[in-house]
Amino acid sequence: MTGSHLVRFDEFMNDALYGASGFYTSGAGRAGRRGDFITAPEVGPLFGTVVARAVDAWWVDAGRPDDFRVFEIGAGPGTLARSFVAAEPACLVGDPSRYVAVEVSARQRADHPESVTSLATLPDGELTGVVIANELLDNLPFRLLVNDGGWREAWVATDGDAVAEVLRPIEDDLPIDPPGSAPHGARLPIQTRAGEFVAEIVGRLRGRLVVFDYAVARTEVLASRPWRDWLRTYKVHERGAHYLRDIGRQDITTDVCIDQIERIAGPAAAVRSQAQFLQRWGIDELVAQGRRIWEAEAARPGLSAMKMRSRISEAEALLDPDGLGAFTVLEWAS
Ligand SMILES: C[S@@+](CC[C@H](N)C(=O)[O-])C[C@H]1O[C@@H](n2cnc3c(N)ncnc32)[C@H](O)[C@@H]1O
Repeated sequence: MTGSHLVRFDEFMNDALYGASGFYTSGAGRAGRRGDFITAPEVGPLFGTVVARAVDAWWVDAGRPDDFRVFEIGAGPGTLARSFVAAEPACLVGDPSRYVAVEVSARQRADHPESVTSLATLPDGELTGVVIANELLDNLPFRLLVNDGGWREAWVATDGDAVAEVLRPIEDDLPIDPPGSAPHGARLPIQTRAGEFVAEIVGRLRGRLVVFDYAVARTEVLASRPWRDWLRTYKVHERGAHYLRDIGRQDITTDVCIDQIERIAGPAAAVRSQAQFLQRWGIDELVAQGRRIWEAEAARPGLSAMKMRSRISEAEALLDPDGLGAFTVLEWAS
């Protein structure tokens, strides 16, 4: 950033992640073993295999509509798309282009598999099928409140290379009331953008929206936690620096506040932990099947037997109650 600017925190975050030299725009930021963070699809193909089972069941429930599509928003380099298509779910009726991978970063779109439909934005109009977003809402720009003897709003002033936080009065209505008592210096995210994003999709959906993310039930929980626990930065698998440093070279994320999203988008039809969701859609069965195939071929294992064996360690990571298993899965149906 050059010259002198004063922008609200959400605009600063938008620029830092998605602006011309933003973390995702420049290609600096990406999920994956060689990237900045490991997400559930990046653990291995098991996550996509389970999600494909769930989507197949919803496709059957919906009466196998001809115009059924799977839309994945914030598809990153297309890893979930790959494992979903590789599972050969019936809902794609043999046509992987029915999987629509939506990713704002052109650098990441370049890695999408050629067989799927790859777009920068969701198509207009009615969305028939299932919309999936894994670790997207936490990455949408949020506003930031700071308790400074009363709640105020964080803005970011830049002047040449100098960057500073400026606290200003809150100028408009918020989706939640910040708690009356909170420690001095406490912070809170205001996730209007994420809520409006969900509301917009639900408004034109004929099917189901499934959101996977790290989340808390109520915003006020975050006011009593050290803010660097939930307002996190990441760079090459490590926690990054303060969000005003390394701008455009590190990710900025927050825990998702379910109360704010539901206040804006309406109540979710289901709220589960990621472990519960994966168990509901057969992860244990897939692991048992993998174990059987591995044991049958253990003496001379081929590539597919090795993949089956890897299901065991993938499931451990995906179900970890202190890790990915504790993520939240929110579903809206309409
Ligand atoms: C944390 S990454 C998650 C990537 C992938 N879903 C995964 O789980 O590995 C979030 C991704 O969402 C993308 N993104 C952010 N806002 C978006 C939007 N409005 N539309 C599409 N993609 C978006 C970012 O560029 C980034 O690749």
